[in-house]
Amino acid sequence: MKNRLCEMFGIDAPIFAFSHCRDVVVEVSKAGGLGVLGVARKGAESLREDLRWIDAHIGGKPYGVDFLNPASFEDAAERKFDFDTGLPQAQRDFVRQMLDDAGVPALPPDEADQIMRKLLGEFNFTPAEGQRMIDIAFEHPIKLIVNALGSPSRALVERAHARGIKVAAMAGSPKHAVRHRDVGCDFVIAVGTEAGGHTGQATSMVLWPRVVDAVAPLPVLGAGGVGRGRQVAAALALGCEGVWCGSVWLKTVESEVTPEIKQRMFEAGPEDAVLTRSVTGKPCRTLRSRFTDAWEQPGAPDTLPAPLQAYLWWSLGRTRVERVRAKEFLTYPVGQIVADMDSETSVRQVVQDMLGELLESKERLDRLLD
Ligand SMILES: Cc1cc2nc3c(=O)[nH]c(=O)nc-3n(C[C@H](O)[C@H](O)[C@H](O)COP(=O)(O)O)c2cc1C
Repeated sequence: MKNRLCEMFGIDAPIFAFSHCRDVVVEVSKAGGLGVLGVARKGAESLREDLRWIDAHIGGKPYGVDFLNPASFEDAAERKFDFDTGLPQAQRDFVRQMLDDAGVPALPPDEADQIMRKLLGEFNFTPAEGQRMIDIAFEHPIKLIVNALGSPSRALVERAHARGIKVAAMAGSPKHAVRHRDVGCDFVIAVGTEAGGHTGQATSMVLWPRVVDAVAPLPVLGAGGVGRGRQVAAALALGCEGVWCGSVWLKTVESEVTPEIKQRMFEAGPEDAVLTRSVTGKPCRTLRSRFTDAWEQPGAPDTLPAPLQAYLWWSLGRTRVERVRAKEFLTYPVGQIVADMDSETSVRQVVQDMLGELLESKERLDRLLD
């Protein structure tokens, strides 16, 4: 394929992959697309290690990094956050009771303390923390920076451009997309509600062409519900110049998800990818579980603002659940295409299948419209 985005990065196909897993990033770039490493919840050391590993394995192919950099945040006061007083009693009791009732054992106190400390080292939500992560990324041959929540600062865009690094940002509405364009982004990623992770209300079908029109002639990637070639064809037909996928890589051998989560994803339908605030405090599409269900029940407390809800889930819920592999409480961000994910495959196969089906779609349309 040849288009502006392929030329911009010297890639064979405008298939951009979001992943928290360095193996996926490397495999997508080697397969002719562009892998982008999600930095959220990585500590500085772990980011350094991942980027060094990518540099050693990617064979000179381009790759990028994705930062959360939220526009609004609850300052966790540079590691001074106190889990005992920082999280309200009602929500803490709710999670404890939920797991006690299900017979999921509490963490031994010393283990709990160790986990909290480790957790605080991994959250990087404040501007200072975000800056530190960006500085680390600049020490590596990255070709793209993506801002996940809100627009990047002009200063960041200029700093990146001065080094030949492109900048993009995620948009759930034309208004957000225009803001990204106005700070100097090189392209915009329009994320429909089908997407795994943080997402808005508009479907890809409605959102993509609106964003394309709003920021034209800036290129747009279609995200949310893309897992196969027919969906890539739809994105291109709606005016996008490529796609950005996150969920589909979770079914690969390279992915970071545990066998338990993978199996639950293989059994899930589209209705099992629920939009909930219970995991991060912001609307996030994730695999339905007893934890996400509990917050929907009458009498459940309100979820906390981000990132406090994430602290709550990770510190009091997730660690306790994972320790005993309480499968029915496990959750992981995933989009509605989870419905199409029914067996394990490789990253390379996903890319090849996408391109094969894209060509078939083109031929079908050519026959239809001839
Ligand atoms: C497991 C997972 C984690 C995600 N975490 C982030 C993140 O940290 N930053 C981000 O910009 N997007 C994140 N996303 C969203 C993706 O960037 C992307 O918008 C989305 O996956 C596209 O829709 P799809 O899931 O239908 O492919 C995540 C998605 C998944 C599936």
